[in-house]
Amino acid sequence: MGVLTGKTAIVTGASRGIGKTIAMDLAASGAKIIAVDVLQDQLIETQKEFNAKDFQYFPYVCDVGDYDKVEEFHKKVKQDHGSIDILVNNAGITRDGLIMRMKKADWDSVIHVNLTGVFNLCKIFSRMLMKKAGIIVNISSVIGVMGNAGQVNYSASKAGVIGITKSLAKELSKKGVRVNAVAPGYIQTAMTDKLSDEVKEEMLKNIPLGKLGAPEDISKVVSFLAGPDSSYMTGQVLIVDGGMCI
Ligand SMILES: NC(=O)c1ccc[n+]([C@@H]2O[C@H](COP(=O)([O-])OP(=O)(O)OC[C@H]3O[C@@H](n4cnc5c(N)ncnc54)[C@H](O)[C@@H]3O)[C@@H](O)[C@H]2O)c1
Repeated sequence: MGVLTGKTAIVTGASRGIGKTIAMDLAASGAKIIAVDVLQDQLIETQKEFNAKDFQYFPYVCDVGDYDKVEEFHKKVKQDHGSIDILVNNAGITRDGLIMRMKKADWDSVIHVNLTGVFNLCKIFSRMLMKKAGIIVNISSVIGVMGNAGQVNYSASKAGVIGITKSLAKELSKKGVRVNAVAPGYIQTAMTDKLSDEVKEEMLKNIPLGKLGAPEDISKVVSFLAGPDSSYMTGQVLIVDGGMCI
């Protein structure tokens, strides 16, 4: 028996990277995982890892930025699982470039997934969460707090996630729903693997702890926010960045 036994958690972007590790940690605490991603094959691969540990992992293909698809997904969740207790909005993408060179499509796609995706899930699942005094954890980024050259789209989307988190915390607190965010620094995943060694070396100079983070550094904090030990916290943004933002 874990602290989340009997709870059902949606984790978006849960086929790999930070989302998969968050799902693994929540499942280890007893939660049933409803995993959402656009990568069908990767979802199936990851499901095998969960099954091997006897963890419950139910994969669903859905583009979080597409309102109609999220409504269809909501119907399936209602049919298949009845309701949910925890929503972790983790799915995210980057399309970096200096503003002079950034294409409008790069702006639109990042806002579609990182910001509209969070709005869609929060809005469409809010009724279910209000009935259960549920919990929302949104994954922002230190870039949404500090900004970064070459990432106006990403930074705007992640700052927007902080805005959603604080506003929704105020809106839903009377129904007992807690809404918090985690703002990771640089974490070793497919998203950061594509950066050049030069960029990574430059990043390391700005991290007082002198290393990139691991997905587990984020999932542990998400598990804390999704569990009973954080029951008096809402509207907060926990920065997990090795000291970058000090
Ligand atoms: N890696 C980092 O350094 C870092 C730092 C700060 C914040 N973050 C945030 O953490 C989250 C996870 O990042 P990651 O590093 O694990 O990246 P990742 O690319 O490994 O994983 C992101 C996941 O989101 C999924 N996804 C993308 N678009 C989607 C959509 N439209 N609908 C549903 N799923 C979709 C991807 O398929 C992928 O599985 C993201 O929100 C990211 O912005 C990451």
